[in-house]
Amino acid sequence: MDEISLIEEEQEESDKPPSIRPRPARSWRVAVIANVKGETPLPFDGPEDAGAEFDRKETIQAILSAIQSDGHQAIFLSADDNLPFALRDVQPDICFNISEGLSGDAREAQVPALLELFRIPYTASRVLANAIALDKTMTKRIWRDHGLPIAEFQEFVSGCEPVSPVLKYPLFVKPSREGTGMGMDSQSIVGNEKQLRRRVNWVIQKYHQPALVEEYLPGREFTIGVLGRIDAASYSPHPGYYREDGFHRFPVLEVDNTQTVTPGVYGHAAKSLAWDEAGVPGFICPADVDPVLAQSLQDLALQAHLTIGALDVSRSDFRLDAQGQPRLLEINSLPGLTPGFSDLCVMANAEGITYQDLILEILYLGASRFDLLQPAHIPEFSPVRVAAFEAPLGRSNHIWYKPE
Ligand SMILES: Nc1ncnc2c1ncn2[C@@H]1O[C@H](COP(=O)(O)OP(=O)(O)OP(=O)(O)O)[C@@H](O)[C@H]1O
Ligand SMILES: [Mg+2]
Repeated sequence: MDEISLIEEEQEESDKPPSIRPRPARSWRVAVIANVKGETPLPFDGPEDAGAEFDRKETIQAILSAIQSDGHQAIFLSADDNLPFALRDVQPDICFNISEGLSGDAREAQVPALLELFRIPYTASRVLANAIALDKTMTKRIWRDHGLPIAEFQEFVSGCEPVSPVLKYPLFVKPSREGTGMGMDSQSIVGNEKQLRRRVNWVIQKYHQPALVEEYLPGREFTIGVLGRIDAASYSPHPGYYREDGFHRFPVLEVDNTQTVTPGVYGHAAKSLAWDEAGVPGFICPADVDPVLAQSLQDLALQAHLTIGALDVSRSDFRLDAQGQPRLLEINSLPGLTPGFSDLCVMANAEGITYQDLILEILYLGASRFDLLQPAHIPEFSPVRVAAFEAPLGRSNHIWYKPE
């Protein structure tokens, strides 16, 4: 008997109204998997800012507390090469994954790949989307293929490639596979080929990866988070968060870079400052933007999420071009979750979603992909199997609901 028949039978037998909350069958043992600043060993051949994306202990403690507040057991596991053994010891029901990975061209996909190998449920995006999102060039190729607005770009692998005649100075040079502003400061903006070659070679040598060169986008900077899935409302403790299409769009957050340590660029130096330190950017949420622009940014963030196959949560960064049109910069499939500081937490806070609720939404969305909880109610939709989201990890097939 499949899950739906079971639930239907349960409802027929009972006079009780259907639950308005999704129900975990029991409390879960949740492993929060992360790399910790100052604790996770760094690769010996990495750049000096390797580990910049790692989380602070306080962030992990906040996630553990949020999960425990819902009655679950929560255990921290370090995302290092001892993880396979720790997973075998702990036997988690589900992992809350925020790990950055340690090395390689798809480091943010390392832990999801391991969890798939062990058939352990986990939250947020799966292997391919995490690998794509880390690689800004691959992401842009996919977005270009889907007609999403991006700046013109070229990837330099050796540094000797002829510069594409399509690119017009000033240009912006960055590592193709890093985050947290690594390798980005005012020197990233180059005005001629001599500066371009120097910066491209610096990126390739320092970060051991291709350099991505884009047209410089001079306009305002925004970031927008997306949470949900087509059936999110059925599995959420807060179904009201989600629109009919199953997605929540967070309010637009503007990053004001005009007065920062690296003026005009939200680079690593600016991202390393505490919110009350001098030189930190301004964060305005909801941003003071025309409602048409706000809607367009939110729609683009959702398209950016869907086209790379991201799951449940992501945050996309934008800049306006010289004509005031939004251009997608990149997507974060594992957006930072530092309470009160990370962009996604600031957006949630701006509309009254508590940190605890944000963490539990991500956890419940993940758990629902692995049949760890029953939906709150059976919507009056016919169940359809959405091939693109076939049941992960060989567990019983998961039903997705879609209006007829
Ligand atoms: N083409 C561009 N034109 C102008 N500024 C840019 C461009 N690309 C990046 N920047 C600046 O550099 C910052 C960092 O770029 P980007 O978002 O690609 O890197 P990141 O390190 O992956 O960011 P995150 O910390 O969000 O993961 C942007 O927020 C923006 O200020
Ligand atoms: Mg960014």
